[in-house]
Amino acid sequence: MRSAGITRPARIVSPHFSAANSRLSTDITDRAVASALPTRLRPADLLRLTDEGAEDVLAGRYDHLFPAGGLWPTENRWATRLIADDEVDVWLISWVPDSSTELHDHAGSLGALTVLSGALSEFRWNGRELRERTLTAGDQASFPLGWVHDVVRAPDLALGAKSELGPMDPTLSVHAYSPPLTAMSYYEVTGHGTLRRTRTVLTDEPEPGAVTSGILPNPGPATHTPEGDVK
Ligand SMILES: [Fe+2]
Repeated sequence: MRSAGITRPARIVSPHFSAANSRLSTDITDRAVASALPTRLRPADLLRLTDEGAEDVLAGRYDHLFPAGGLWPTENRWATRLIADDEVDVWLISWVPDSSTELHDHAGSLGALTVLSGALSEFRWNGRELRERTLTAGDQASFPLGWVHDVVRAPDLALGAKSELGPMDPTLSVHAYSPPLTAMSYYEVTGHGTLRRTRTVLTDEPEPGAVTSGILPNPGPATHTPEGDVK
């Protein structure tokens, strides 16, 4: 299936992932932790929302929000909000080479992502140093409170020799944040192995430096249940 120039990744929306989500959703420890958080949605719920968002993108349900003709920007990151309510924002982000987010957190919001096409390099602060991992199409990640990372489109070589992705094909990911983003702080690594916060930006967008399009108005009351489908 192709929609807006996107090819379905082999691993996305697998029944194995759904089963894993279900196990996470019923984990009693997870519930206890979640009760102290500023949202009733848990990481597993956000992973599911990004999974469903990716499936909807592939099905063409958001084509009206995307660049005409599937011509994704090649110079700058690009983002559009897919879902907005009081509890969660869901975004699609298009990534371009050599344009990183900078090292940042998500303030008081939990987050999650599903890579839809291409690959991302994430550099996460583990308390002592930055650790890199590559997330390719179909991969998911969740971000608890306090997660500090830098994200950039992975070099094409990260996709491997068998990749059918060309240099002009988009690298896309679907992100969910709950509560919806209100701020992000940025950091630098000091010469003695610590982080220094350099600035905090009030923003309701996950990519303040990116071009945004198709921003949806807040429709009002929350429409998501922690374990159920979107109502
Ligand atoms: Fe982030």
